[in-house]
Order: sequence, then structure tokens, then C-alpha cells
Amino acid sequence: MTAFDHRKYRPAPPVALPDRQWPNRQIERAPLWASVDLRDGNQALLEPMDVAQKRRMWALLVQLGFKEIEVGFPSASQPDFDFVRWLIEARQIPDDVTVQVLVQAREDLITRTFEALQGAKRAIVHVYNSTSTVQRERVFQMDREAIKGIAVRGAQLLQREAAKYPATEWVFQYSPESFSNTEMDYAVEVCDAVIDVWQPTPQRPCIINLPATVESAMPNVFADQVEWFCRHVSRRDSIIVSVHTHNDRGCAVAAAEMAVLAGADRVEGTLLGNGERTGNMDIVTMAMNLYSQGIDPELDLSNPDAIIQTYTECTSLPVHPRHPWIGEMVYTAFSGSHQDAIRKSLKLQKPDEPWQVAYLPIDPRDLGRDYQAVIRVNSQSGKGGVAFVLERDYGLSLPRWMQVELAQVVQRESERCSGEIDSATIYQLFLTHFVADQVPVQLQGYRLDREGTVDTIAADVVERGSARTLSGRGEGAISAFVDAWAHHSGEQVNVVDYSEHAIGSGTNAEAAAYVQLNIGGRRYSGAALDHDTVSASLKAVLSALNRAQAQQSAAA
Ligand code: KIV
Ligand code: ZN
Repeated sequence: MTAFDHRKYRPAPPVALPDRQWPNRQIERAPLWASVDLRDGNQALLEPMDVAQKRRMWALLVQLGFKEIEVGFPSASQPDFDFVRWLIEARQIPDDVTVQVLVQAREDLITRTFEALQGAKRAIVHVYNSTSTVQRERVFQMDREAIKGIAVRGAQLLQREAAKYPATEWVFQYSPESFSNTEMDYAVEVCDAVIDVWQPTPQRPCIINLPATVESAMPNVFADQVEWFCRHVSRRDSIIVSVHTHNDRGCAVAAAEMAVLAGADRVEGTLLGNGERTGNMDIVTMAMNLYSQGIDPELDLSNPDAIIQTYTECTSLPVHPRHPWIGEMVYTAFSGSHQDAIRKSLKLQKPDEPWQVAYLPIDPRDLGRDYQAVIRVNSQSGKGGVAFVLERDYGLSLPRWMQVELAQVVQRESERCSGEIDSATIYQLFLTHFVADQVPVQLQGYRLDREGTVDTIAADVVERGSARTLSGRGEGAISAFVDAWAHHSGEQVNVVDYSEHAIGSGTNAEAAAYVQLNIGGRRYSGAALDHDTVSASLKAVLSALNRAQAQQSAAA
């Protein structure tokens, strides 16, 4: 018998809500955001933030556009108290930003909390006590009435202390901590009792914050709980329903999103999900989820690198390279088929149409990332990646059959050196393998005459040190040159495929040509770069002929 025994656990009880409405709704606008980075997240750090780090984090949160920011637990920590005083005394709080502070429902702590906030223009005082069955029965060993009594007393104390500081616009917030593990009827009973003390109105609402303190059910269960709560709580029009999810099961964002469908107006969380245990709801992820659905997240997340820098400096925590939306590697495709699809979609994407790019849910440029990071080439990249980097960095549009051939060369090289191949190496591999227009035959010059649709060519070549002029006729310079070669060598040569294009930038050449020949039943490819398309075409044919000779001699 191992210790790993599922019978130790019970499933979360479902909520009786057969006519639940939330699954049929859609999120249409951003919720009110409240950052708790400077409290919960800060509490959960091995090294709490120092004053300079708290100030840096505060500046970032304001800059991102948060309008409600929980700045600490001033009654429990002198540094938090001092930080709140600094914010107020140094006039650091913009007019449209409200600070929030956390306090347990205890008289001495509440009194001290109001002292910390003296002089604030507007402030949210957030009082909480735990209501879940396990907390009541095992931690506090108190019955329902006694636990409700703590909440009511806390609510009364907030009212009493607030009355001492009438110059401040006070907003009261109550959290039934561990709400999602509380019986729903009891959670409503406790919150109703608090609401009854505060008597909020639509003009002066209070905030009721519903935490999934420990996430212990699927997000749909939390959504049912929130909808049930919203339907049963008193004075629904006078309360702002807020949610505060944690990420124990990895679903904090999903739970908050579904809670918004279920009626929540406000969402608490932290940047990149820092917080107790597995962390709080990640506001960057949820906001970017909204953004990618065409909804204004009402936060400016356009510079995630700045967020990551401040976050790591203040928390000493790393950001995973695959973190949703902003991780270092999330816009990098390694798989060849993904790269191919991205390249094709990007080519067709018009600036004024909705974003439709395979494998890229948003335009990385919106986050200050560029396409440089999209494609890297390794042994799994395939032709898409190879084609992408040659086009991007050297202006070369290889035909499909040459992409396939070059990809195999790149793959062998990547396996040989066991790693990623950069674009300069790919270009060199392309030159080495396909641009073989010098040995054993080299083009020195040519004369081309056209009569009707027929071209006559006289091509001066040097073959193994001997100069010759090859003559031939055909429709177009390539056919004429192939005809000249066939007369000269006695070989049966057919052009299987051919393409050319002008080169905008990336190399010194102005034209590129690619040709595939069938010589004696086998296919050979060649390419050339030159100052004009005719020279490039003739040299591409020569490259294929030279490669054929080299391969035939190697096989002989
Ligand atoms: O997770 C939680 O329940 C909390 C409360 C204090 C709101 O952080
Ligand atoms: Zn929390």
C-alpha cells in the first residue's frame, strides 16, 4: 500500500443551480481590477519587498492603470504602515487611484489601520474573517453565530473608526475568507449581516469580496457559487461583488473569468500571479485574454518587458519562458509546420483586418515583441522555418522544392552541431549547396538574340580551364542555354521547374533564380544570384549542371 491514496479526499459539493445563467453569457467589458501585489504577494515572498522595491512596484501599478491598489496590512507591519504614510504624506496617490488596506476583524488592528490612512482622500478598508466549515470547526472551534458575530463586530468597528475621519471618503470591503469552502446559505447570511450594518446604497456601495482562498473545485463550481451568491444576497444593487481567486488547481484565471460571467464586477489579483502557495489570479493573463477577444482590458500592458523587469527586481522570482502571453518563448515557433503556417498567414494578413494568423493568437508587436523572435531554426524546423529566415533576412523566396531540399541540409547540419542554426548559417548552407555556378563550368558572357518567340544564345564558358562558346535555340534564355548545353554534352536535359525574382535587400545581388533540371532521369537543383535576371537564370542552370556533374562523379 503506498501513501498515494485518492480515497483520502472528497469531491467538492456541487451547487444546486439548475437554471444557472452564466454559461450563456459573454464577457463584454473589463471588470474593475484591484491589485493586491503589495499585500498578499509581498507576504508570500521569501524576502519581503524593501521600501525601494515597494515604491517601484507602486509606480508600475499606477502606470499600468490600476485604479484600486491594496498597499499593505499597516496594522500588522511597521514597514506597511510607513509605506501608507509615505504615499499619503508625499502625495503619491493620483486623484483617480484609491488605496486599499487589509485588516482582520479585530478592534486594535482596525483602530491602527485608520490611523495609517489619516489624510487619505479616498480609501478602501478591507476587513475579513474566515467562514468555511473547516476554519469554523477545526481552527476557531466556533459555531456559525460566533463567526458571524466576528464579521458584524468588524463591520461596526469600521463604521465607528471611519466616523473619526470624516474628511476621507471611506469605502468598506468585507471578505468571507475561504468563501468557496463555505456553505453558500451561510456565506450569504454572514455577508447580509455585514451589509445590514453598513447600509450601502447604489450611490455609496460597499464591496463584498468572495475569495477562493484555497482553490479546491473546478472553475464552473466557483462560477455557480458566485451566481448563487449574487442571486441571494441582499441589496445586490448596492454592493460591488468582487472575486479573489487562488491558483491551487491552476485555474485561478478561468475561475475569475467564469465568476465575471456569473455576476462579479471586480477582480482582485496580482501581476503574473504571485501570491501565497501557487499564487493569486494573474491579472496580466486575464487582461490579455480579454484583449485577445477584442475587449479593452483597461490596463496598459503594451510593455511586458517593463513589467517583468520590475516584477523580478521586486519579488526575486523568475518569469517562466512559457508564461501565457508574455513569456520569452511564447511567440517562438520551433516546429516546421507551425513556422510554415505562421509565414503563410503573416503574408496574407492585411493591416486593417482582424488578426488571423495561425499559431499566433495575437500580434506579438502589440507587446513590443517582433517577428525576429518568431522563428528559430533547429532540427525540427522543416522547410517553413528555413524559408522564413531566408526571406526575412536575405530577401530570397525559394520555390517549394528547393525549400524541401535545403531543409534537409539544414536538418543534417543542426543534428551535426546538436543545436539551433542561425540565419547566416542557413544562408551559407544555401550558397554552398545550390549556388555552384563556377566549377567545372563557368559562364563568362553571353549574347542573346530574339526572333519572334525564339531566342538564340551564344554563351561563352570556361570548362575545366578551356574557353568555349556554346550555341543553342529555344523559347527564352533558359531553353536556349539548355539546348546549347545538350548539343555540347550530348546529355538529355529538361527544365522541370524554374523561378526567379528581384531581390529588394539582404544581399548585394539584384536578382535570384532557381532551376530544377532533369538530366538523364534524375533531378538536380541549382540557384544563382546576380545583377540581372537573365544572368542569374543562366548561372542557376549552370549550378544545376555543375552539381549534377559533381554528384555523378561522386557516385561513379
Ligand atoms: O485569499 C484570501 O482569502 C485573502 C483574503 C484576505 C481576501 O487573501
Ligand atoms: Zn488571497
